[in-house]
Amino acid sequence: MLDTKVAELLNVQVNKEFYSAYLYLDFSNYYTEQGLNGFANWYKVQAQEERDHAMLFMQYLQNNGCKVTLEAIDKPDQTFASFAEPLKAGYQHEQYVTGLIHTIYDAANSVKDFRTMQFLDWFVKEQGEEETNADDLVKKFNLFGSDARALYMLDSELAERSYSAPSLTL
Ligand code: FEO
Repeated sequence: MLDTKVAELLNVQVNKEFYSAYLYLDFSNYYTEQGLNGFANWYKVQAQEERDHAMLFMQYLQNNGCKVTLEAIDKPDQTFASFAEPLKAGYQHEQYVTGLIHTIYDAANSVKDFRTMQFLDWFVKEQGEEETNADDLVKKFNLFGSDARALYMLDSELAERSYSAPSLTL
């Protein structure tokens, strides 16, 4: 069995990851409404990845004999005044999630729960990639977003993103 505090934080993370999926679906819907289907695709794929993260946390808890409690998922409540805003919000959100992962890692470390630390290693690396991707999007938009032709090309590039299952299996 896992330490109570570690198990509790892992259970909270299930909810946080599902919320991330919900948040990115909301971004995707915004871009669909704006006619930027490539941006919409990028966030739809991101939402699928977040759902996978939630499932991995859930599976890890179950593999360790812990009960999973599914709490209500918060409603994404942001409104956007420009195409750039979801990109910036996405980057900030990933930084927030990195902090959550580090907090769980810290809790696992403090009780010498090496198994959970090893499980979380994948997420530490994944967060590095997600922050980089989110930051890249912000930078690209800052560079090219104000030119209609460049925006069209960026949207076309983001339309190419396709879903692939996570490299971590439990
Ligand atoms: Fe599940 Fe985007 O972190």
